[in-house]
Amino acid sequence: MSKDSQNQANPAAKLWGGRFSEATDAFVERFTASVTFDQRMALEDIQGSLAHAQMLSESGVLETAEFEAIRDGLNAIAEEVRAGKLEWSVALEDVHMNIEARLTDRIGTVGKKLHTGRSRNDQVATDIRLWLRGQIDAIGAELTRLQSGLVELAAKESDTIMPGFTHLQAAQPVTFGHHLLAWNEMLQRDYERLMDCRKRVNRSPLGAAALAGTTYPIDRARSAELLGFSAPTENSLDSVSDRDFAIEFCAFAALLLTHLSRASEELVLWTSSQFNFIELPDRFCTGSSIMPQKKNPDVPELVRGKTGRVNGHLISLLTLMKSQPLAYNKDNQEDKEPLFDAVDTVRDCLRAFADMAPALKPRREVMYEAARRGFSTATDLADYLVRKGMPFRDAHEVVGKSVAFGVAEGRDLSEMSLDELRQFSDTIEPDVFDVLTLEGSVAARNHIGGTAPAQVLAACERARNLLKERH
Ligand code: ARG
Repeated sequence: MSKDSQNQANPAAKLWGGRFSEATDAFVERFTASVTFDQRMALEDIQGSLAHAQMLSESGVLETAEFEAIRDGLNAIAEEVRAGKLEWSVALEDVHMNIEARLTDRIGTVGKKLHTGRSRNDQVATDIRLWLRGQIDAIGAELTRLQSGLVELAAKESDTIMPGFTHLQAAQPVTFGHHLLAWNEMLQRDYERLMDCRKRVNRSPLGAAALAGTTYPIDRARSAELLGFSAPTENSLDSVSDRDFAIEFCAFAALLLTHLSRASEELVLWTSSQFNFIELPDRFCTGSSIMPQKKNPDVPELVRGKTGRVNGHLISLLTLMKSQPLAYNKDNQEDKEPLFDAVDTVRDCLRAFADMAPALKPRREVMYEAARRGFSTATDLADYLVRKGMPFRDAHEVVGKSVAFGVAEGRDLSEMSLDELRQFSDTIEPDVFDVLTLEGSVAARNHIGGTAPAQVLAACERARNLLKERH
């Protein structure tokens, strides 16, 4: 007989089976179990148990020999988990009871002492926090890799001119480096949000027990310290029921993916033959089975698409928590799958972008030509007239007429003669051509946050310093 069918026949085989007189319905058993997904936290569960057992022995609740047997048993189970050899049983419901039962299998009755002074309610909250903290650190490192790639590319492209857009229409020339640094700023804030979230994840709920705390002389600060948490959580009822740290992570994830989706959208546009601004190496693209000419930007498209599922996970968790009375409710078991998928999705998308960023090849001449064609220095002409004493509204009018003339003639402002320009205002003098060139236009926006190449290089330096502080 398999382990699962034995359990089904005999209610007392459950770790909580004492007060039950009939076996769990087979469907209910499957419906209420979480081991198929929460086994992902097995190593964190063991880590939490090791700290709990050590704290119990230091506090005199467990004998030293009992602690040592538990410790060695848990370490051996960790090996089984790593080797993929632990047999998970749905009848044992979740990762916590599977590991506890396995411990008793291996070391005998003393294994049953591990659960002294705790509950699965504080145990699961501890496991998720430990697991998420590790994931946050991995995500932070990947974000740093992506940002470094963007900043280095921005430095290289500090004077590459392209059209800047509003309403997706050419507005004013900017530098490609400046555009890349705009992406970096979004990611910088995402990183800060992630690290802020980490502070709230990194608290220890262990010792809150089922909901009210425990009667044993536990030392919550000690188990927190053993697990590398900054401190124990404050209130036992809140500790076992709070999942807002996971919601907060998903909010971070939704914003990050939103930012990546914006960059993705631009990459999709820019790699199209209509824009042709950027070449995305073949390794990030796929072809079409029917149209031989196609090279599709699948990677940015998928990142854009995956934003939807991460937004969904945020809403799932918010809705899960809404109106839950204190303290722990089984609803909370539903926190894991959305959280796990949000983490996996974020990690994959960051990896894709971090690999892709340094490989983006701008087509500088195409970008330059596009900026030249769009009357993108019209604002510079207006500013020039204002500097010569004309009120801005009048200058706007003069430039509007010049642009209309250019549209009719099929020529950019910089391609008109002085006489042609002077038809609209005799305030215009030969020095106008300094501001009508694209180079003059970007160089003139020379202040913090402006697009001038010198400012882009200075901004890259500041960004590099922020990235360095992370290590
Ligand atoms: N599998 C459960 C969860 O994920 C563990 C906590 C169960 N506690 C309980 N009293 N049923 O939340």
